[in-house]
Amino acid sequence: MKKIGLFLMACLLASGASSQGSEKIIPAVVHAEILHGKGTEWGKEVEACVDDEFSNQIAFIKQLFQQELNISINVTNNRKATLRFEYDKKLITPAEHYNIAIGFNQVVVSAASVRGIVNGIVSLVQLPNERDGRYFLQPENINDYPAYSYRGLHLDVVRHIFPLEYIKKYIDYITFHKLNTFHWHLTDDQGWRMEVLSYPKLNSIGSWRDQTLIGHFKDTPIKYDGTRYGGFYTRDQIKEVLAYAKERGIEVIPEIDIPGHSRATIAAYPELSTKPDTTWNVAQTWGMYNRQNNVLAPNDASFTFLNTIFKELIELFPSTYIHIGGDECSKLWWKQDPKTKEFMKANGIKDEVALQTYFIEKVAGDVKGMGRKVIGWHEIAEGKVDTTTLIMNWADDKKAIEVAQKGFSVIQTPGKPFYFDHYQSLTNKDSLAIHGFNPVDSVYNYSLVPASIRKAGLAHKVIGGQANVWTEYMGYSTKVDYMIFPRVTALAENLWGTNKNYADFQRRLKEYMYKRYERWGSSYFH
Ligand code: ACM
Repeated sequence: MKKIGLFLMACLLASGASSQGSEKIIPAVVHAEILHGKGTEWGKEVEACVDDEFSNQIAFIKQLFQQELNISINVTNNRKATLRFEYDKKLITPAEHYNIAIGFNQVVVSAASVRGIVNGIVSLVQLPNERDGRYFLQPENINDYPAYSYRGLHLDVVRHIFPLEYIKKYIDYITFHKLNTFHWHLTDDQGWRMEVLSYPKLNSIGSWRDQTLIGHFKDTPIKYDGTRYGGFYTRDQIKEVLAYAKERGIEVIPEIDIPGHSRATIAAYPELSTKPDTTWNVAQTWGMYNRQNNVLAPNDASFTFLNTIFKELIELFPSTYIHIGGDECSKLWWKQDPKTKEFMKANGIKDEVALQTYFIEKVAGDVKGMGRKVIGWHEIAEGKVDTTTLIMNWADDKKAIEVAQKGFSVIQTPGKPFYFDHYQSLTNKDSLAIHGFNPVDSVYNYSLVPASIRKAGLAHKVIGGQANVWTEYMGYSTKVDYMIFPRVTALAENLWGTNKNYADFQRRLKEYMYKRYERWGSSYFH
C-alpha cells in the first residue's frame, strides 16, 4: 500500500494548493513515503551525474527535462551533484524496479536496468512544482515497479502509414506511459511497410494501393478516393527507430501477418496464392472480406518465401519475440483449392484448421531455429501449437481461459475495451471510427485477470496487456493522437496495476495530463 501522509495531503488539498510529489504521477506509484525536512530546489540548469551503466540514456534524460520542465541538464562526473542516476543491482527485482530518494538538495534515481531507470526518469519529471522559474521537490522516497511484465501499444502502419518522426513520437508516448513494448504491425492486405531485399516486388508492388475506400464498406454506393497511396520504411529508417527505442528500453516487436491478411504479398507474388492465375491487387477496402482476400497457399514457394522473409526480419529486429499474426485466416480458399487438398493429403493434414497450425508451426519452427520466440493472435491456439508460443487474445475472457487452459501464456488485448479504433463517446461521433464504443473508464477498469481466470487457477498465465490501434479511420497522426488519448493514459495505469482509483486518476488526468498532451502538440478526446 501507498504510504502517503494522508494528513499532509488533506491539508494541502484543503488549502487549495496543487498536489505534491508522487501524488501527481501517472501511472500511480506502488510505494511512496513523504519525509520530513527540507527538499530539493532547482533552477533552469541542473547538474546530473549518470552512472556508466546508463550513459546511453543521457540524451533521453536531457530531452525529457527540456520538454517537460524546460530545464537544461549538464552532465558531470561529480557524484555529489544534486541529481544522480545510479546503478543499484539490489533493484534487479521486481523487473523494471526504480527508486527515487529526494532529500535536502539531493535527488537520487536508482535502478538495475535500463527500463527501471527510464521509468524513474519519467516519474522524476512529473514531481517538481514550479514557481517563478524555480522547481521544488518535497523530500520523499518512491519505490515503484509494474504489476505486469508485458505492457504494450500497437500501431497498424498498413491501413495508413505515418512519418518516421511520428513513429519516434509514438515511442515517446509509450515511454512516458511506462509501457515497455511497441508492437509494429508492418504487413496486411492493404500494404507491405517494411523494405525487403529478398523479395523486392513486396515494395514496388505490395507497398502501394491504387485507391482507398471512403467511409464504411457497408455504405452504398461504395466510394473510393481514386488516389494512389502507400510507402514503406527503409531498413535505415527501421534501424533509426530501433536505436531510438533501445535508448528508452522499449522492445519493438515486428509483426508479419501470415497466412491470411496476405493480399499485398499475393499482389506482388501471385504464385504464393491459391489462385496464381488471378491478377490480385493490393486491397483497397477495409475489413476481413474473405471472398476478396486470398491467403498463402501451402507449397514450396510459400514456405521458402516465409523462411527467407522471417530471416531478413530477424536480421533487422533484435526483439526476443517475433509476431507472426495468424488471425482471421479464411479457410474458404484452401477448401476450394485442389492443390491445397493434395498437399493436405500428402502431409496427413486432416482439415483446414490443422493446415493453419501446419503453417504456424512451420514458421514458428523457423523463427525458433533463428533463436527467437513467437507471438501470435489467439487463432493460432486453435490447433496443437507449441505452448511456448505467446498468445495475444483479442477476443473475450472466455477465450483467455481456453487458451490459458491449453498451457499458453496470454497477453490480453480484448477488442472490448483495448481496441482504440472504437469510438470514445456514443453521443459525440465527431469523427468517423470503425464501430464500437470503448470509453476511457472501460479501459481503466477492465480487469486483465477476471475472477473467472483467477478461479480457474490461471492468473499467472496472464502476463500483461496491450491496446491495439488499427488505423483504417486514422489517416493522419493527429487522428491517431485523438483516438489514443486519453485512453492510453488509462491503459498505462491499468497495466502498472497496483494502486488503481478511477476518481483520483481523473484528477491527475485533468490536472496534469491534458496540459502535457497540449505541450506535446497532441490532439486528444476531451
Ligand atoms: C485482429 O483484430 N484481427 C487481431
